[in-house]
Amino acid sequence: MKHLLSIEKLPPAGLEAILAAAPAMKRSRGEPGPRPLAGQTWALIFSKSSTRTRVSFEVGIRELGGQVIFLNAQDIQLGRGEPIRDTARVLGRMIHGAVIRTFQQSDVEDFARDSGRPTINALTDDEHPCQILSDLFTIQERLGSIQDRVVAFVGDGACNVCVSWIFAAARLGFELRIASPRAYQPPPALLERAAGRISVTTDCAAAAHGADVLYTDVWVSMGKEAEAAERLRQFEGYCIDPSLVRRARPGALVMHCLPAYRGKEIHAEVFEAHANTIFTQAENRLHVQKAILDWITASP
Ligand code: CP
Ligand code: NVA
Repeated sequence: MKHLLSIEKLPPAGLEAILAAAPAMKRSRGEPGPRPLAGQTWALIFSKSSTRTRVSFEVGIRELGGQVIFLNAQDIQLGRGEPIRDTARVLGRMIHGAVIRTFQQSDVEDFARDSGRPTINALTDDEHPCQILSDLFTIQERLGSIQDRVVAFVGDGACNVCVSWIFAAARLGFELRIASPRAYQPPPALLERAAGRISVTTDCAAAAHGADVLYTDVWVSMGKEAEAAERLRQFEGYCIDPSLVRRARPGALVMHCLPAYRGKEIHAEVFEAHANTIFTQAENRLHVQKAILDWITASP
């Protein structure tokens, strides 16, 4: 049984298969073709808000021939305290696979184990693997191979999106530079576990120098709202603005997983100048997640 629980745990063959299948998923959209999810019903179980992930999975599952049930975690008994392990054992007898957005990584892992169904992490506090797989595909489309490129992540270096970048770096042989305030840098033990070419600094300009990709994410991730005032204070200046873009390689990509907060992690002019890349990242969620579903449901 295959799962996508994190970039850290995604087997190398899975990473390769997903990135190899994504271009054809994009090219052949709308054409008659294989329907690997025909006869299947997948559940989307979301405890946090979503626009891109929810819509791209709902559309993708349907395009691959499957049916979808969207479950807001607050509307099912999970929201009233029914354990995830019991929810998994019930749904596992009814559905064919699950896509889960929640807080704790262990909930996705428990669901995968106890449901006995292919399970996909649609964002937890620890990782956002579907996002990073789409971003890797977008970089491949725009720059060719990511190997030996330099990606500079500016913002919350301990957030789910940055952690998935950290685990991708070692796997795909690119250099990752993280610019974050000290209190929001990734823990050293995690960097050691990832063992990639990764550096961490408080200096955005140094991280951006000659970079091929400038990447950012929100300063206040979902679930961190109580820390918003302190975060806004600490992250002041950790913004992709025109002067930071000038530090990067000419023609560098500026990327954002969205939703974006202009004037905070990204300057409005930079956002508009790079909107084509940013919204292609969003579109690519659909194509890459179809490749993920195809890989996960194929026999080993
Ligand atoms: N980037 C991303 O995951 O967007 P949503 O929160 O809208 O799904
Ligand atoms: N780090 C952000 C990503 C949103 C897609 C969050 O967790 O809210």
